[in-house]
Amino acid sequence: MAATLLDVEAVRARFSSLRDGGFVFLDAPGGSQVPDEVGDAIARALREASANIGANYETSKRVEQVLATAREDGARFLGCSPDDVIFGQNMTVLDFALSRTAARDWKEGDRILVSRLDHDGGVAPWVELAADRGFEVEWVNVTEDLGFDYDDLADRLDDRVRVVACVGSSNAIGTIVDVARVSELAHSVGALCWVDAVQYAAHVPTDVQALDCDVFICSAYKFCGPHFGLAYGRHELLESWRPYKARPAAADPVGRRFEPGTAPYELLAGFSATIAYLESIGGMEAIAAYERELGQRFLDGLPDGATVYGQPTMDGRVPTFLINLEGVDAADAAKRLAGEGFGVWAHDNWYSLGLREKLPYPDSAIRVGLIHYNTADEIDRFNTALAQL
Ligand SMILES: Cc1ncc(COP(=O)(O)O)c(C=O)c1O
Repeated sequence: MAATLLDVEAVRARFSSLRDGGFVFLDAPGGSQVPDEVGDAIARALREASANIGANYETSKRVEQVLATAREDGARFLGCSPDDVIFGQNMTVLDFALSRTAARDWKEGDRILVSRLDHDGGVAPWVELAADRGFEVEWVNVTEDLGFDYDDLADRLDDRVRVVACVGSSNAIGTIVDVARVSELAHSVGALCWVDAVQYAAHVPTDVQALDCDVFICSAYKFCGPHFGLAYGRHELLESWRPYKARPAAADPVGRRFEPGTAPYELLAGFSATIAYLESIGGMEAIAAYERELGQRFLDGLPDGATVYGQPTMDGRVPTFLINLEGVDAADAAKRLAGEGFGVWAHDNWYSLGLREKLPYPDSAIRVGLIHYNTADEIDRFNTALAQL
């Protein structure tokens, strides 16, 4: 492989779970491994900063510092002001809460567009809201090669469309959506552009200003952090929305208005350690460049008879691959591979219900999800194991 800025052996030394190298984790889209320093930061916060905000004693001040630092780290990660960061339990909970908040003044018959590439965590909130409030939800189609169909989106737009929701990249097949293009189309009819970035943010450097989206939600456990979510909301929207929150609770900065109840402070300390970790290994640019090489190596080394659903090269995708092997049952294969020390999954729909209708396999397919702590050697060993199946 060409030289990259990422020293993968030094990276792996920071993870207890990767140090012996025996098991090959290829399921990052399900959940990534976590460096020890993140766990240490969580434990330290519980030991040294366990209280609530707003009191006059030292421990409470430390909690406030944890919260303020996490907001700054989140802002750097997303490319926005710390004021516009919202923390929550995970992407799905944030999406249910923010979609209801955004729609408080929408009218019966208003339309919501979601993409067939979406995970149901980004679809169900709109489906349930529509069931409660009489909105209409429609799929934006995929193209023949399972990409986002921008023409179909353009055809569906009218002034009743209130939001266009889409993934930043598919959790099943890895395809990246051109969010800036979706934003432009959505904004042309006054609709919001609402991004489920759970997979995207783990692999692509994020700049919500350049994407020009209105809401962008991701989950730290997909990029070596703890189990919690964070979102960006466009400042003017956050100021205009009426939040669902306890009335005396803090409402400054504006993102706080959408964080009801007490935050998981120890996880926020872990999140800050996660961002410090990512920045210390070169940041998302270095990570993306390394993962692109790794992904191409995987594609180049696939055995004959392997089908890759979606993009056949690393162009326009993150290193998440959905594959099948001719004549091999995916569920059996995943079980055998686990026995041989490779962590992959087989599943039917991958929570991507709109995409599933377009995927040609009968029962299930194997998802192989790479991330920056994987090595070229792991990829080669895995491709050999696939060939032996
Ligand atoms: C694209 C995508 N969206 C949403 C989710 C749900 O995220 P969370 O577990 O943070 O609710 C996932 C989980 O894998 C996902 O991959």
